[in-house]
Amino acid sequence: MGLKSSKICISIVLLILILFIWWLPRYMNPDYISITITQNSDPLRTSYIDLSNDISHLADGWKPIGHTLDEQNLLHDMSIVVAAWSENSEDNIPTVPCLSADGHLLVLSVAASRIRYGVSLTFVAVYPTDMKTVLPKNISSHPLSSNQQSLWCIFSDGSVTPVYTYDSKYGNDRVSLLDCPLSQFASDQLWRLNQTIRVYLASTTTKNRQIPILKAFVTVPMVSISPSNSSQESFTLCTSPLHNKANYLVQWIEFHRLVGFSKFVIYNTTDTNNHLSTIVNIYTQKYPGLVDVVQWNFSILGLVDALKTRYFQTEALHDCLIRYGDQSEWLGMLDLDEYIVPLDPYKTVVDYVHETFGRRIIGSINLWSQFFCNKNASAYTPEENDTNRLTIERFSFRARNLYKSGREKYLYRPRFVQYLSIHHQINGLSKEQPSEKHIKLVHYASMSRLRTMPGCGTNEYVKDTSIRDRFADRVKTAMVAMINKD
Ligand SMILES: *[C@@H]1O[C@H](CO)[C@@H](O)[C@H](O)[C@H]1NC(C)=O
Ligand SMILES: *[C@@H]1O[C@H](CO)[C@@H](O)[C@H](O)[C@H]1NC(C)=O
Ligand SMILES: *[C@@H]1O[C@H](CO)[C@@H](O)[C@H](O)[C@H]1NC(C)=O
Ligand SMILES: *[C@@H]1O[C@H](CO)[C@@H](O)[C@H](O)[C@H]1NC(C)=O
Ligand SMILES: *[C@@H]1O[C@H](CO)[C@@H](O)[C@H](O)[C@H]1NC(C)=O
Ligand SMILES: *[C@@H]1O[C@H](CO)[C@@H](O)[C@H](O)[C@H]1NC(C)=O
Ligand SMILES: *[C@@H]1O[C@H](CO)[C@@H](O)[C@H](O)[C@H]1NC(C)=O
Repeated sequence: MGLKSSKICISIVLLILILFIWWLPRYMNPDYISITITQNSDPLRTSYIDLSNDISHLADGWKPIGHTLDEQNLLHDMSIVVAAWSENSEDNIPTVPCLSADGHLLVLSVAASRIRYGVSLTFVAVYPTDMKTVLPKNISSHPLSSNQQSLWCIFSDGSVTPVYTYDSKYGNDRVSLLDCPLSQFASDQLWRLNQTIRVYLASTTTKNRQIPILKAFVTVPMVSISPSNSSQESFTLCTSPLHNKANYLVQWIEFHRLVGFSKFVIYNTTDTNNHLSTIVNIYTQKYPGLVDVVQWNFSILGLVDALKTRYFQTEALHDCLIRYGDQSEWLGMLDLDEYIVPLDPYKTVVDYVHETFGRRIIGSINLWSQFFCNKNASAYTPEENDTNRLTIERFSFRARNLYKSGREKYLYRPRFVQYLSIHHQINGLSKEQPSEKHIKLVHYASMSRLRTMPGCGTNEYVKDTSIRDRFADRVKTAMVAMINKD
């Protein structure tokens, strides 16, 4: 190396040092905000302009974040822009549920939790390959899986936190989740001040995108569960999108109320004849806080319902976990033909779970299905066909054994669960096999159509009226009380 080039080297090193010493105090002093305006990524040529203190307060929450200087500058600029927007400003940024402005993400819902990952905010999004089937053909989008993107949450004070991503795929059972920690500001607003917060999702995947790709408003649900008698624990059941099966709803709720559930959440997709609204209104008047409705119809997005049998059911399950996890010690998502039945000596699911699992750190309890079927595969008997009877009265023939090749459901302990799927293994903590003698999931598979299930053949099924005998009268009494209670 010649003398000349080593002189140049030393000069460059000195220059870097001088620039660094000049820059450091500005970087450390939060009142001194500087913005990069250079288009060139060479740090030596980076120039800064100082802004007055008037603007600096607009992004109080900003702390340098991002991997590269470009990314940092982009995020810093966006954080200042976001902090300057008022609550109702017309920012033209799509609001959840929506397709993100860059076309990469279809986000259905968002909720915050103070128990999962400590404190976090989770966006529930449609799996990228499913987006192609549900988005109308004329909408241009380029779904990218979230782990191929660099995403950030920006809160309304300008604070920025990184987004962690999870794409879950198990057969047809798919969902994408984005999870970002709450900044101090956001958690204060949510938990201490009980305020709605505005959060933006920003992407630094595309370098020239200067504003966030979507926004959302997040509140914490009210904690309004009355503690159950035996254990002070709250048990929540969410139910999958209804396809106009509201007529089966009241008996299902009243049954599960009898066995200890204290909160019911209905993911509403369709409500022809306002049947559901009528039921929900009665519950709201008579048992305030018992039944919640979450609107799960995205007709506003003009989606093509390509997946008739799975209208964002996995997404709804995660929404239920995130939205209700903080309020529920135990939580499950069942269809209206599924009943969780405690067996002798337990009168309620609460008693059984409390006594068997107590405060042990477990992720979930695995419930195998017991199928009840129509006696004759090709026609209902008159008794089975009589929908004026309760579902638990109509069917009295069941498969001899529990079905153990899938189709199980879980009772989750949201505190210790991260991610779920409808019928399969969860990530996270242990899955417990409860005693089949003490609890089971009864699945009235033929409730709304003739159906053959494994173990239900003519020479296989057994007659079993025990559930009818134990519960039918009490469910009917509870239903009468529900309808007539003043
Ligand atoms: C797509 O088509 C639907 C109906 O044909 C129309 O309502 C909608 O505005 C179109 N969207 C775009 C982005 O062109
Ligand atoms: C939080 O806000 C909700 C709705 O705005 C209100 O009903 C509830 O009582 C508030 N809770 C607290 C602890 O202030
Ligand atoms: C709790 O138990 C007592 C006595 O068994 C009963 O009178 C009361 O109604 C129960 N309360 C609730 C909220 O279930
Ligand atoms: C959503 O609601 C609209 C209007 O009630 C209805 O036409 C549409 O079928 C619903 N979508 C689904 C998937 O149920
Ligand atoms: C359920 O959703 C439909 C639109 O899909 C809406 O018309 C109806 O009012 C909703 N029902 C309730 C109880 O929220
Ligand atoms: C089942 O129903 C069909 C149609 O009603 C009838 O022809 C058949 O005999 C029934 N089978 C039995 C075993 O009852
Ligand atoms: C079942 O009931 C419906 C009316 O609710 C009736 O049309 C049908 O014929 C009945 N089927 C049988 C097998 O009894």
